[in-house]
Amino acid sequence: MTARIIGTGSYAPERIVTNKDLMKFLDTDDEWIRERTGICERRVSAGEGTSDLAIHAAERAITDAGIDPKEIEILIVGTCTPDNGFPSAATDVQRAVGAVNAVAFDVTAACSGFIYGLHIVQSFIRCGIYKTALVIGAETISKVLDWTDRGTCILFGDGAGAAVLRADETGVIRTLAGSDGRKGHVLGCQARTMDNFLTGRKPEPGFMTMDGQEVFKFAVKKVPEIVSQILEESGIGREQVDHYVLHQANIRILESASRRLKVPMEKIPVNIDRYGNTSAASVPILLDEMNREGRLKRGDTLVMAGFGAGLTWGAALLKW
Ligand code: ACO
Repeated sequence: MTARIIGTGSYAPERIVTNKDLMKFLDTDDEWIRERTGICERRVSAGEGTSDLAIHAAERAITDAGIDPKEIEILIVGTCTPDNGFPSAATDVQRAVGAVNAVAFDVTAACSGFIYGLHIVQSFIRCGIYKTALVIGAETISKVLDWTDRGTCILFGDGAGAAVLRADETGVIRTLAGSDGRKGHVLGCQARTMDNFLTGRKPEPGFMTMDGQEVFKFAVKKVPEIVSQILEESGIGREQVDHYVLHQANIRILESASRRLKVPMEKIPVNIDRYGNTSAASVPILLDEMNREGRLKRGDTLVMAGFGAGLTWGAALLKW
């Protein structure tokens, strides 16, 4: 038995912020952002939290799968921007959708969060411990951005995507995940200052900081590496894959993956122009768009891959 995706859903806040909107308060320009990143606009929450976005995406995935939420046995939210330190976003979703029989928890792996979630549920389903799972990637990155830092704030957007998985004969062929804590400093966000016991100061959450070029170098190497690894380990050729659903961080990273893997861009779907980098939500939002547009046919072979802060990475190879 393996896990098969039987339903998808996604949700993004209504408010669209274009590059031109950013130019009203930031020393940047539309052309620079488009050329360097491929981003034209992103969604920014006007009050909805990460759990709200996750709940909408989850409800849509559950409807698409046609299951009773009580059937869900494991519910994972990949997020690095939860609304609370605790309780988890996953237990918020559990309450809202009525997944009363699930074990629910969050996974912190930044942009790899959704793939880490798939990796975990695949293991449980393969072992026969659970049969039905809900995996969500959800972020309100806008709340941890320094909107005066043009090196980071132009890149990201808010959103959520979800997938329902069920034990089946075909589906996920293989997953992999990894991390390298030695490179953690290149991309981070302090949650709370540590010294409030000694100083009596109110704890203050930090903003995202990033060494963009280091992350770029890591991504252009790591994405082709993990895609090649998962295909080689499964004995599947690159040309046999119908869709490479890759984390949407920068169009230049996707184009570089296309060149290095010798895979045409037609097989690498892109929606970064409309959403920016939505971190853990990017892969499931893209997957849901493809599903709803009828671009995924039963039996298609898909590779998904993510990378992000930690540093973390993950990939999944599956039959649709
Ligand atoms: N608008 C206009 N100019 C800018 C902007 C901006 N928003 N940001 C930087 N610049 C300027 C810089 O000041 C610099 O000017 P200078 O030459 O006069 O000093 C020039 O543009 C070049 O800056 P670089 O930082 O060298 O630009 P680069 O080509 O590296 O692009 C970018 C920056 C887009 C951030 C790129 O490094 C990148 O995409 N990195 C990967 C980031 C990423 O994917 N992060 C997330 C992945 S993990 C996760 O998803 C959580």
